[in-house]
Amino acid sequence: EKGTYPHYMLKEIDEQPLVMRKIIQQYQGADNELHVDEDIVKAMNDSDRVYIIACGTSYHAGLVGKQFIETWAKVPVEVHVASEFSYNMPLLSEKPLFIFISQSGETADSRAVLVQIKELGHKALTITNVPGSTLSRESDYTLLLHAGPEIAVASTKAYTAQLAVLSILAAVTAQARGIKLDFDLMQELAIVANTMEVLCDDKEEMESIALQFLATTRNAFFIGRSVDYYVGLEGSLKLKEISYIQAEGFAGGELKHGTIALIENNTPVIALATQEHVNLSIRGNVKEVVARGANPCIISMKGLETEEDRYVIPKVHETLAPLAAVIPLQLISYYAALHRDCDVDKPRNLAKSVTVE
Ligand code: F6R
Repeated sequence: EKGTYPHYMLKEIDEQPLVMRKIIQQYQGADNELHVDEDIVKAMNDSDRVYIIACGTSYHAGLVGKQFIETWAKVPVEVHVASEFSYNMPLLSEKPLFIFISQSGETADSRAVLVQIKELGHKALTITNVPGSTLSRESDYTLLLHAGPEIAVASTKAYTAQLAVLSILAAVTAQARGIKLDFDLMQELAIVANTMEVLCDDKEEMESIALQFLATTRNAFFIGRSVDYYVGLEGSLKLKEISYIQAEGFAGGELKHGTIALIENNTPVIALATQEHVNLSIRGNVKEVVARGANPCIISMKGLETEEDRYVIPKVHETLAPLAAVIPLQLISYYAALHRDCDVDKPRNLAKSVTVE
């Protein structure tokens, strides 16, 4: 039920702080230890390479998840779009572990890969919102998102839940491998939940950004470096699927290798700046597009902000920044679609669960 909300999408965006707290509760024992099925931790620990397989928004979550697993647990990770993997399988490592990320657990492209890799005798873990879904039943292990039903076609709370669960998986794997993290993940996720609340309370500001940059534009670009690039990919997918604005996400340094030709007077360029080590370089990329007439909307994180920024996200742990940074992008997309009279919850040509290959 969407209750007093005009759309499921807005309700589901607002639920994200609650979902974070639910995930913390589900994965943290009374002893304050992380609780993930021993067999899953063992499978992670035994593998020499993790292959994440997913589609769409779940694929974008996988890209960020790779960052968590590689930086914290030091296990190499490859992230693949399911429909490509099935027809163009890369050379696999000796002891691969497959992670399927799927909100619905029913996506046919992902299932096709699951069937293939099971035939090869490999193990699979599914991260899904739906217990008993096909991918969950056919995998060796399951981790649940605990996000509650996601009704809007555009995925929002499932994405942040996927990131949170992937971060927990990365942290328990690090622990199992004797790597000590210099922060308390659950504490940091609790801070993320509070920050999400602040961001969700800032809807007027998000609406005004949408009106300022996206009310009439034909196209828009999202740029970022490192994990900000991955969040930009998700932001651009949200925007195109519900507002029908042609939107593309790019690595900050890549735009100038061709796509910058598309920048015209007033083209909106939404730039994310939440990562200290690339803060100067992404701001350099903003200057490049501004010199070609772009209308820049910089969204930064507290501590890295400058006067030119349009919006500053409160500080969260830098590696977890995607969990916070995606929320303004979800809300901006929502308001852009709303003001362009689009059917927010049921965009044209799309289905919630894609059960054909
Ligand atoms: C975008 C969106 C889709 C799904 C994709 C995978 O908002 O919802 O891109 O993320 O179809 O779906 P699941 O996660 O159910 O496998």
